[in-house]
Amino acid sequence: MSLPMVVPDPRLPSSVTIYEVGPRDGLQNEQTVVPVDVKVELVERLVTAGLPVVEVTSFVHPKWVPQLADAEELLDRVDHTNGIPMPVLVPNERGLDRALAKGVRHIAIFGSATETFARRNLNRSLDEQFAMFEPTVTRALDEGMDVRAYVSMCFGDPWEGEVPIDQVVAVGKRLLDLGAYQLSLGDTTGVGTTGHVTALLDAFNAAGVPDDRLAMHFHDTYGQALANTYAALLHGVTTFDASAGGLGGCPYAESATGNLATEDLVWMLDGLGIRSGVDLPALAATSRWLAGHLGRPSPSRVVNAGGGA
Ligand code: HMG
Ligand code: MG
Repeated sequence: MSLPMVVPDPRLPSSVTIYEVGPRDGLQNEQTVVPVDVKVELVERLVTAGLPVVEVTSFVHPKWVPQLADAEELLDRVDHTNGIPMPVLVPNERGLDRALAKGVRHIAIFGSATETFARRNLNRSLDEQFAMFEPTVTRALDEGMDVRAYVSMCFGDPWEGEVPIDQVVAVGKRLLDLGAYQLSLGDTTGVGTTGHVTALLDAFNAAGVPDDRLAMHFHDTYGQALANTYAALLHGVTTFDASAGGLGGCPYAESATGNLATEDLVWMLDGLGIRSGVDLPALAATSRWLAGHLGRPSPSRVVNAGGGA
């Protein structure tokens, strides 16, 4: 069976936005550097498959993430100004300068809910990360850019263990207060479970942050990503990050594996009759093509089962 039977659930939203992170979160963790020609084709194929937003690369230090050191060249070669939003990760003013030089209109800053990961991923303390983001976001907003914010380690941290919900909400609110339009809640190492998702969303709502300012960013390390997505859908969240073929991870969090596979998400949404605008056959064909370039099967269950073929 290549597409699911459609059986809607009236408790769920009628449409969602899929924020595709494959070219960035997916490829930042590859052992080898994927040629820029392949990246360009990947981005173009994702757009053709109907993804409404594609995060394409990062303007981070090239020594920290050599896999994305070709950010400038990629932006020269994809149409990031006329079509759908193509955000890039930007940690600081140096990254913003590079993004502005390429005419980028959408950026994402990425904070940490924990002290240890702030140091490991950004070389800053928890408080110092805000000193880095604040002037970056102020300038980006002055330039008329859209700024999204991520917060990592929302559901647990491999070095610190459990992360208190209050701590996640406090960091998330500080990031939103800088002027970000949306906060993406990252389960960086995929440890969260459904009740935790509901409790975290309840806590954000209680702190004055409604579901429509939030997105969920699930990694599938422990096989919980789709269940957690369902819990967030039931709560009322309508933006979900996902990575074509289930690639991904964070090079500064070794236990992070792939993101929720976009195909697995689209299969569930299609079955529930929830519109995403994504063409599952075109997307699955893209991930099979990419798996060929990477030399190994896609981690996506739907891709491997022949879904959409
Ligand atoms: P640092 O070493 O503290 O940087 O790194 P610095 O500010 O001290 O500057 C040192 C030198 O680096 C300077 O050069 C800067 O110009 C240069 P010098 O004057 O010595 O010649 N520099 C840069 N060069 C190019 N682009 C830049 C840049 N910034 C400084 N942007 C820094 C601090 C933040 C740069 C570093 O820690 C870094 O690049 N970190 C990025 C790590 C990363 O990309 N991690 C993966 C993404 S996060 C993720 O995957 C999680 C997420 O998916 C959500 C989830 O799953 O939870 C988003
Ligand atoms: Mg991630």
